[in-house]
Parts: sequence; C-alpha cells; structure tokens
Amino acid sequence: MEPHPDLTAQYAADTAKPRFLMDLFDHGARHYARAERIVSLGSGFLYRKKALERAGLRAGMRVLDVATGTGLVARAALHLGVAPGDLIGLDPSAGMLREAGHPMPFRAVRGVADALPFADASFDFLCMGFALRHVTDLATTFAEYRRVLRPGGTLLVLEISRPSSAIGYRIAKAYLQQVVPFVTWLGTRDDGAELMMRYYWHTIDACVPPQIILDAMGGAGLRVAPRTTYLGLFSEYVGARP
Ligand SMILES: C[S@@+](CC[C@H](N)C(=O)[O-])C[C@H]1O[C@@H](n2cnc3c(N)ncnc32)[C@H](O)[C@@H]1O
Repeated sequence: MEPHPDLTAQYAADTAKPRFLMDLFDHGARHYARAERIVSLGSGFLYRKKALERAGLRAGMRVLDVATGTGLVARAALHLGVAPGDLIGLDPSAGMLREAGHPMPFRAVRGVADALPFADASFDFLCMGFALRHVTDLATTFAEYRRVLRPGGTLLVLEISRPSSAIGYRIAKAYLQQVVPFVTWLGTRDDGAELMMRYYWHTIDACVPPQIILDAMGGAGLRVAPRTTYLGLFSEYVGARP
C-alpha cells in the first residue's frame, strides 16, 4: 500500500519517485532549516521534543530516527538525554545528512525506511518525523519497524494530515500550498527549495486517510494507540512491538 497515489505532475511513474525524492531533498537540503522554520512558525524543534516526551522517550534508550534529514528529531532526542552513542539517524539523502552538522552529533546511516540495514530487535525507540508520505510501501515499512524494535519498544510517527473540517482544510491549503512555497522562494530565491515546499502540500493532500495508516501499523503486528492530533493538522501515531 502506497502512502499516496503517484503524483504524475511531479514524476512520471512509481519507479521514478525515489529518484525524484533524492534530487528534491539533495537540492533542497541547504534551505531545509529555513523552510522548516517557515512551515512551523519557529515551533518545530519544541514540537518534536514534546512529541518524543509524550511517547515516552528517555535517557538510556537506544534510538533510531528514520528519515532524520538534517537531524531535527534526533537533536530533540539528544536534548531529552539520549546519549549520542545510542542514537542513529537514517536517511537516503546525502545532501540532507550533510546539513546535519559537523561533526555530526549522532551516527548517520544512509538508507530507506522499508529496507533497514539493522539487525532484528536493535532499538528501544524508533521515530520518524514528517516523512511517512515518502516511503514506497506502508506495510513493508511498518514490518521493518516492528522487526528492528525490541519487544516492548516504541514507534512514534509524526505526520501532517489533511484537516477533516472544511475550514481547517481551506486554511491549511492556503498556507501550505501558497504562502509557504512563496515565502520560501522569497527567502532563498531557489526554485528547488520552492518545489520542495510545494511538494510537501501535494503529498499531504493526496495522502491516504489516517485510519489506513493505523490499520497498516496494526497489520504489521504493532500494538497501536489512538492517533493524537494537534491543531487538526499534526498527527502522532504511536505503536509498540508486543
Ligand atoms: C521533510 S524531511 C523530514 C526530516 C526530519 N525528520 C524532520 O523532522 O525535519 C523528509 C526526509 O525524508 C527522507 N526520505 C525520503 N524518502 C525516504 C525513505 N524512503 N525512507 C526514509 N527517508 C526518506 C528525505 O531524504 C528527507 O530527509
């Protein structure tokens, strides 16, 4: 099950999506920090930290941050006391990982969510921030998450979802489809950075409904908690390996 149908205005067919994404994020990487601040109105780091706290992240856990990008979720984990040696950030984009800083404050590994290069039962906590829409297949991805979690380990997926109310949808669409890409372009004068933020909205708009995501988590053998939402836009999906 794909997280959204092919967006043929952006890439030709299913097989072209990974290449498109790689170019998009490799190119947009140096502007990601600024673009993210625009999307979140500066609250992104604090939100990630609070979400990790709510899901039960604490010092001493061995943590995998999938789709770590420039490391925003991973840095929030470090702030909560996770040791750098217990934290791995995984991402397919070399450009995004380069922006995570020098020296990198955690171990970075290149790879994709649905084929994790780690042994079974390696982690106490697995998180993924705002990237579930980019995986190839939800069932394979959640099966991989269950496999690398230890029994009792926690999964936290942060996502932006289409608001269910008509007014919420109109506001989110205007902000994410028009304002964010335009302000990103004004701030960067970079068409690739603008495209990255336009694509952001397209994938949110086309994404499968939250219940499909919860069902895919359950179908992979995870124990699933009810979805939590903030502002009708931010979704937190929490699961555990039984
Ligand atoms: C919007 S960024 C999110 C970065 C970070 N997690 C955050 O919260 O700011 C999306 C990230 O997903 C990564 N990505 C794209 N396809 C992926 C895949 N199949 N598996 C894992 N990560 C992927 C991209 O390279 C990019 O760094």
